[in-house]
Amino acid sequence: MEEMQNVASMPLIGDKAPAFHAITTQGEINFPEDYVGKWVILFSHPADFTPVCTTEFMTFASMSDEFKALNTELVGLSIDSLYAHIAWLRKIQEIEWNGMKNVEVKFPVIEDIKMDVARKYGMVQSQSTTQAVRAVFVIDPNGIVRTILFYPASTGRNFDEIKRVVLALQKADAENIATPANWRPGQDVIVPTAGSCGTAKERMENQSEEQYCLDWFLCFRKEKK
Ligand code: BEZ
Repeated sequence: MEEMQNVASMPLIGDKAPAFHAITTQGEINFPEDYVGKWVILFSHPADFTPVCTTEFMTFASMSDEFKALNTELVGLSIDSLYAHIAWLRKIQEIEWNGMKNVEVKFPVIEDIKMDVARKYGMVQSQSTTQAVRAVFVIDPNGIVRTILFYPASTGRNFDEIKRVVLALQKADAENIATPANWRPGQDVIVPTAGSCGTAKERMENQSEEQYCLDWFLCFRKEKK
């Protein structure tokens, strides 16, 4: 029985994002239906007025226009009340850090004092029974979970990496490619592995500046101009 309590239920990559209704700092939301047609980054914080979370909120809020430009909405969650959220976001606006100041958090932050949403997404793990881990769910315009990242409470997230993941997913969907290790926009991408002996041979024999193979199963394509 004790062991069972440690099993967090959570959606997996490829699953439909679990639905919920929540009160947020920007009004009520019905998730994911309010976001159909958009990419969403749903991310959790252990609690309000915590130092690492404060730096993360400042960073994410400062990047929110960059995410909007990628048709991507941010939705935060912290295990605290709506009034605590409001007070924390007001305080964040007064703090200056790492070149950021007067940072207004315009994306919704979910009130989840009862941890209903956090539990649906496996955000409450063995680290604490009262605080969420730092989870990131990237959800596509059809409401499908496409990426899941978990960090412990002591480690602030890398928001450039989260943006890179969104860019890579969008590119993979649009161009039927994959992205290699440490890929950055503009760099060569990987074309799907040859599905027949004929295609494997043809690719190896017909290499060009635009498409080249290191071996039959590892072929790259230059960024489309
Ligand atoms: C923080 O955000 O600073 C934090 C939150 C929970 C535990 C430890 C640190």
